Amino acid sequence: MVATGRRQGSVFGKSCRVDGRFVPNRDANAALCGRKVIGMEIAVNRSIETIEAMNQTATAHAAKPTGTSSLDDYINRAHHLVPAPAVLPQLLPLLNQPDVNTGRVVELISYSQTVTANVLRICNSAYYSRGTPIDSLAMAVSRIGFRQIYEIVVSVISAATLARPQKGYGVEGNEMWCHSVTSAIAAQIIAREAQLDEQVVFTAAILHDVGKIVLSVALEDRKEQVQKEMRNNLSPLELELKLLGVNHAEVGGRLLEKWKLPEHLCQPVRFHHNPAGANGHGKLAACLYLGNFVAYFMGNGFGQHALDLKGRDAALKLLDLSSDRLPQFMASTQEQFKKVKHMYNLN
Ligand SMILES: [Fe+2]
Ligand SMILES: [Fe+2]
Repeated sequence: MVATGRRQGSVFGKSCRVDGRFVPNRDANAALCGRKVIGMEIAVNRSIETIEAMNQTATAHAAKPTGTSSLDDYINRAHHLVPAPAVLPQLLPLLNQPDVNTGRVVELISYSQTVTANVLRICNSAYYSRGTPIDSLAMAVSRIGFRQIYEIVVSVISAATLARPQKGYGVEGNEMWCHSVTSAIAAQIIAREAQLDEQVVFTAAILHDVGKIVLSVALEDRKEQVQKEMRNNLSPLELELKLLGVNHAEVGGRLLEKWKLPEHLCQPVRFHHNPAGANGHGKLAACLYLGNFVAYFMGNGFGQHALDLKGRDAALKLLDLSSDRLPQFMASTQEQFKKVKHMYNLN
């Protein structure tokens, strides 16, 4: 799909100049705190070499899983934690319509009081309202536009699922939500550059790690093994495969299928760590891969083990993008994430 180019003015989509500096990285790659874009580029490339070396070491530790279940077994056990977002499959097709029926959008969103209340709260934030109160969904859609409202709805729905601790991974607070939002902002910026559908990429990216919610439950039951493997520097992906026989990307893709979301969302989520495997959806998966990558290097990773990020060059090649652009993507993401943090009261 081709981008519509109608994203100016959205907090997730507005571009920024590349002259800022990044916050220190909380993860292992402290070298990424360069003040200038050129410094960030060097730091990114050096850290990638480090990560790839560590990945090779971690892979050597991997062993055959024991006592594992199927994807559906894990999903069924954790289904209460990940309710299907009923409105998404209905809103998504509207993205392809040139003249969206506002009444239909309002009807779909208003099924949930919580979603409605949160959408209105965000629409009345300083960023969107410009001082004029927005007191109904109809006013919000007509003033802000369907595509921006769509993104807000996706964010509100996913926050309900993602903004919780994932104890199986040793992750507390809203770290997963911050990671998901940062990844989604970055993936969207990259999608715009690659002329892909920004809202589709944003949706897939914000949900890309949803499989971790499912597997967190299973990993919690293996706490001691998890701690031991993490001390051995296994990445989350390798740890899941070793202990459970599946990984969160496969589980997430399957979960989205069960939610009746279209293949162009399910496949990129399933292959967000291996875009080349996403048959026919490699470019969308590459946006997720790189969005995830940017989030890690900005310090919004997921836990301490940001080591499953090999394959950057293959993802860039799929999108016909140069690695020279990565520091700029990071700077733009950082700028937009500041606004989103303020809007969603993230700290
Ligand atoms: Fe992931
Ligand atoms: Fe991720």
